[in-house]
Amino acid sequence: CIILLGGCASEPNQEVNIIPQPQQVTVADGGFYLSPKTVINVVKGADDLQPACTFMSTLVEKSFGKALAVENGETKKNAINIFVDPSMKADAYDLTVEKNAVNIKGGSSKAVFYAMQSLRQMMPVGVEKGEKMDRIRIQNVKILDEPRLGYRGTMLDVCRHFFTVDEVKTFIDMLALHKLSVFHWHLTDDQGWRIEIKKYPELTQIGSQRKQTVIGKNTGKYDGTPYGPYFFTQEEIKEVIQYAADRYITIIPEIELPGHALAALATYPELGCTGGPYEVCQMWGVFPEVFCPGNEKTFEFWEGVLDEVAELFPGEIIHIGGDEAGKGAWKTCPKCQGLMRRNGMKDVDELQSYMIHRAEEFLISKGRKLIGWDEILEGGLAPEATVMSWRGEEGGIKSARMGHDVVMTPGGYMYFDFYQADPKTQPYAIGGYTPIKRAYSYNPVPVDSLTAEESKHILGVQANTWTEYIKDEQ
Ligand code: ACM
Ligand code: ZN
Repeated sequence: CIILLGGCASEPNQEVNIIPQPQQVTVADGGFYLSPKTVINVVKGADDLQPACTFMSTLVEKSFGKALAVENGETKKNAINIFVDPSMKADAYDLTVEKNAVNIKGGSSKAVFYAMQSLRQMMPVGVEKGEKMDRIRIQNVKILDEPRLGYRGTMLDVCRHFFTVDEVKTFIDMLALHKLSVFHWHLTDDQGWRIEIKKYPELTQIGSQRKQTVIGKNTGKYDGTPYGPYFFTQEEIKEVIQYAADRYITIIPEIELPGHALAALATYPELGCTGGPYEVCQMWGVFPEVFCPGNEKTFEFWEGVLDEVAELFPGEIIHIGGDEAGKGAWKTCPKCQGLMRRNGMKDVDELQSYMIHRAEEFLISKGRKLIGWDEILEGGLAPEATVMSWRGEEGGIKSARMGHDVVMTPGGYMYFDFYQADPKTQPYAIGGYTPIKRAYSYNPVPVDSLTAEESKHILGVQANTWTEYIKDEQ
């Protein structure tokens, strides 16, 4: 290495910048030159390793004009040698870049995939853009890394504004790049029902479109432009599930009940306390129209929907919403009041709890677990429910103390629809302020409030991308 003017001519890049920051990074002199002749060499594989190999082999395809060959064999030179080593922790990896080879050891195929994302982040950005290259220099380095918590999620709301299959895939690509493990797909809300349910085809005929959309923040002015019909067919959903699985990402689908239900009620008004008429909502907010638990048909409908959802999505957890249900309608509805009297319920919180309990019983009968926003604590938590704490951490702390699993997603840190820089410099947003520094600083385990035992219930952390003010990818 010849030192020139304080720099090193043959060492153009000694820095290794990876997000999230790995546990241990040791930079060494020199670099590995990845070329079209480099092979991906599986020394010790696993059943589900193929998507990781395909990812790596095709990452450089545009730059090199060919994909890298994938082989099996003993450790060799000019190769990315891969070892799946089940004696390591499942999500942990050991990535070594040396002059002659790259060696990846991972506790699972998923961990190998994470090592590949680190490798990817060390490549020049031109690779992402498919710029033509003869070779790609990667800094020599040793990285030992593992995630602190297993659940690392991001939610996308496709109801307020719709995003196509390709756009959802792009979103999933971003999760993969950052080694996130869960995609929470918010599929139903007041402003649109976005998932095909074969038993209830009207949902995606009537519930998937609104007459127009409010301009700005509920200004009273509307754009006069019909929005929809927009929804995902079950075939499209299967395609997205496979796409996520190929990136070692689990999808949690969300079907909102008992509130945020106007798209469903506009379709089936008999399922609301007043019987309607209802309209798919044209503005933003929290609305008093909710499902009527006094009508047994409501539960029949939920079960019909959740049955198909459980059939489609292979992940263990299903989200039933539960947030921001206006409970006022239940106080004056004769059917709801009758149900409360018959069951000795003292308030509408207990009525909401009764509904969530029934949803949970159904999901358990399908071998699934229920997750809901922290309002599901009100009136008593369903026995095995997991809680998504969004109104601060209080709901999460309370749930963990009760022995329930928790995902932390407090608004003050984890709402990615908030402003991320000085609002004067930003596109119009819902409000708030969560710049990257604040989001990145968040510690999802409230060590001052929970014992070590209780802390084990914090499954992890999630960011939420609500889309009232996010109209498109741009
Ligand atoms: C929520 O932000 N309503 C969960
Ligand atoms: Zn009712």
